[in-house]
Amino acid sequence: MLNITNRAKNVSPSLTLAITAKANKLKESGVDIVSFAAGEPDFNTPEFIVNAAKDALDKGLTKYTPASGIAPLKKAVCAKLKRDNALDYQPEQIVISTGAKQSLFNALQTVCQEGDEVIIISPYWLTYPELIKICGAKPVVVETKAEEGFALNVGLIEKAVTDKTRALILNMPNNPSGTVYGREKIEELAAMLRRHPDVWIVADEIYEALTYDGMEHFSIAQIDDMKDRTILINGLSKSYAMTGWRIGYAASPAYVAKYMGALQSHQTSNPNTIAQYASVTALDEGEAFIKNMRAVFEERRNALWSFLDEVPSIKYVKGNGAFYVMVDISALLGKEYRGETIDSALKFSELLTEHAHVSTIPCECFGINGYIRLTYTLSIDRIREGVERLKRFIEEIK
Ligand SMILES: Cc1ncc(COP(=O)(O)O)c(C=O)c1O
Repeated sequence: MLNITNRAKNVSPSLTLAITAKANKLKESGVDIVSFAAGEPDFNTPEFIVNAAKDALDKGLTKYTPASGIAPLKKAVCAKLKRDNALDYQPEQIVISTGAKQSLFNALQTVCQEGDEVIIISPYWLTYPELIKICGAKPVVVETKAEEGFALNVGLIEKAVTDKTRALILNMPNNPSGTVYGREKIEELAAMLRRHPDVWIVADEIYEALTYDGMEHFSIAQIDDMKDRTILINGLSKSYAMTGWRIGYAASPAYVAKYMGALQSHQTSNPNTIAQYASVTALDEGEAFIKNMRAVFEERRNALWSFLDEVPSIKYVKGNGAFYVMVDISALLGKEYRGETIDSALKFSELLTEHAHVSTIPCECFGINGYIRLTYTLSIDRIREGVERLKRFIEEIK
């Protein structure tokens, strides 16, 4: 074997994508899997967005665009940030990317280098540590507690700040916990960050549109003196059921956007041209779609909670956003299912898929043990069926 870099070797493949693929394979072979694993809406992309893409094709809009995105889409993003978040950005502050994932990659590559530290809050989205490591930087994990609803602990975050800290990633609503930190916590965090002016804030707001119980999204960039040190990341994947279209964006100070655009210009050039044109329509006309999707997810979340209430030996944490619920299965660790010892959430999840045909994500990959993540991107009937299977599975654990 010829040489492989440490940079490549240090990256762990995405477990969530691997598990989703495994569940899909079982499904294709005819097994009736209830999948609580997928991190994407089950809705189809709405027709008016699909039609906008067809329109772009008919008009021959199939060529390269400026690497950082087309002007009408940057304008639509600025209008969205103004309308929904009361934020003023100019088009030169916006970089359109191939998904929020690329925006995060651009942001971290722009602000971190070898030896730097980046603070992430656990439970965290599994991609963050890998992106940080690719920069040669070190992820520094600050924990939150289930019994506090995974609320931010600002004191602990401050303790983790060193002279090497280059950025803090703030993901709200949170994947995997569904936690929405809320305005007060964000203001408390901002007050702490004022004491550490060299720390960038990378605000991943990809689940912004999905908040429930009347909770309003509040971006840290809405706090005046935080805006100039925030790289705000969002995208179309989750809010408009457009995961496969691969459109995300970053809003930042113009000098940062310039570097991020240059980086992107040598990686992927522009994001998909047709998807960019369709995204203009999504952002301009998608409000009713989002409102409906949010209501459907809230109803399903409430149903999932009520079904989980009937399952013995587990607990779960109530979140106000995204489409995830974290279920605490730690009381079952060390016990046996049909002669096999359940020594981890990963083992629990594997046995559950194999014997009960229910697919979930074990949360070790999100930096926390003893939990599995359930997605409510499936119908209430399927949620009920899945939780009944989970219950029967747990009843067999001795
Ligand atoms: C927290 C978080 N950020 C970003 C992304 C990436 O989204 P995109 O599809 O826009 O790359 C995801 C997708 O699962 C996510 O969960």
